[in-house]
Amino acid sequence: MKESKGAGKIQRRDLFRMAGAGTIVAAAERLGALELKPSADLLESASSSAWREATSVDADREQAWQQRMNWWRDAKFGLFIHWNPSSVASVEISWPIMRPNPKWHITEEEYVNLYKRFDPSKFNPDSWVELAEAAGQKYVVFTTKHHDGFCMFDSSFTNYKITNTPYKKDILRMLADACSRRSMPLGYYYSPPDMHHPDFRDTSKPARENWEGEPARPQWPIYLQYMQLQLRELVTRYGEPALFFFDGLDQQEKYDGYYIERMLRELSPSSLINNRLGTPGDYETPEQFVPARIPVKGYRIVGVNPELGSELPGGIPRPEEFRPWETCMTMNDTWGYNKNDRKFKSTKTIIRALVDVASKGGNLLLNVGPTDEGLIQPEFADRLRDVGRWLQVNGESIYGTTYGPVQGLSYGRTTAKQGVVYLHVFDSPGGEVSVAGMAPVRRVELLADGQVLRHRQSGNTLAIQLPPNLPDTIDSVVKIELH
Ligand code: GLC
Repeated sequence: MKESKGAGKIQRRDLFRMAGAGTIVAAAERLGALELKPSADLLESASSSAWREATSVDADREQAWQQRMNWWRDAKFGLFIHWNPSSVASVEISWPIMRPNPKWHITEEEYVNLYKRFDPSKFNPDSWVELAEAAGQKYVVFTTKHHDGFCMFDSSFTNYKITNTPYKKDILRMLADACSRRSMPLGYYYSPPDMHHPDFRDTSKPARENWEGEPARPQWPIYLQYMQLQLRELVTRYGEPALFFFDGLDQQEKYDGYYIERMLRELSPSSLINNRLGTPGDYETPEQFVPARIPVKGYRIVGVNPELGSELPGGIPRPEEFRPWETCMTMNDTWGYNKNDRKFKSTKTIIRALVDVASKGGNLLLNVGPTDEGLIQPEFADRLRDVGRWLQVNGESIYGTTYGPVQGLSYGRTTAKQGVVYLHVFDSPGGEVSVAGMAPVRRVELLADGQVLRHRQSGNTLAIQLPPNLPDTIDSVVKIELH
């Protein structure tokens, strides 16, 4: 008997449902029979079994992910740590072998052997986490493996790893334990590009010749398997990852990101995944800059080109149009430790960057490169503590906020929460400031000390009388309560 497509009452979907009830054979027989309607008892048993289980597993995953996403959006400020044996030579991490430059004074051979001298005897993970807390940072992201392929964890699938240095101890284990002792969420930076792995590229050649990898070679799938095994190790051996920060160069589709993303969603449903694995992931990742406008869905932002934000539509998106994002930034000009790089950003620049990021709904992941001894140098630590002091007074205007209703102010920024707008005054224009586009206002005060400020409102324009001496020369926050 021949059946044309769509004929009869049993559809593909029903077949799956019935398969869940273990009745695939019966269903197939019925398809071949003249009477194509499944019996009521068959549908009854199907709908109460595996199908329901499967969909509730998905619902649980979705809920775990949503909770983590909400938490991450509220957290706003994280600590990025780029650390590995490159710190011994005070050069940038990985790049000296991929794009050699005379300024690094190091050959590829010297670079790949630095691990034999890596012995950070002063490393104290609790003090790092304590520093992040003092800075007001709510999560930490650590380089488990950078492009050079060196693993800062005790992977079973390579010898190029931390436990084979003079230090011998598993640094990721120590950091993960310290984070869990202090309830600090820890995310894993993991680089798909891997200069050390012979299935990623022909390692008999200098890395500068083939650092983008050689996916056309037959051994490429072995490299993909290596990545998958290592990601499984990270998920199963070191505690639940808050997030995965994949980092890549171009053409990330060669890593089979959709497969990896599905694997990670199953193994660790609440972990967030960034957008650098050839999939959209959960959030955009501009680097070293703050987009000029509020990121919305449908616009990809990854990398260092500040022009990327300029195509975004202006204005204030509806919540469902907003696309979560995080920018990562160095505190000087190097990701890894480089004692010669003295171009430190000022505390003022960092605080204003954090506020600028928050005013557009994003997160700031601020980087440190610890020394080869395992210390976070004072120039970084001092600035982090300064930001923390500002946040102790003004944290309410950052954590748990979203993008502000007024964008493009010359003298400051706005952030917002349910019923409240925070006006961040960077450079006081003096006297009265007027803010257009405001809903009816109930009360206006300085966040630092609760001093009530006189205000007038006509239509949706609010005029606020600023005191002559504002509490903070970097950013004084005015709290505006709405009706
Ligand atoms: C850039 C750098 C890389 C660093 C990353 C962090 O891509 O090249 O070394 O790890 O930024 O996002």
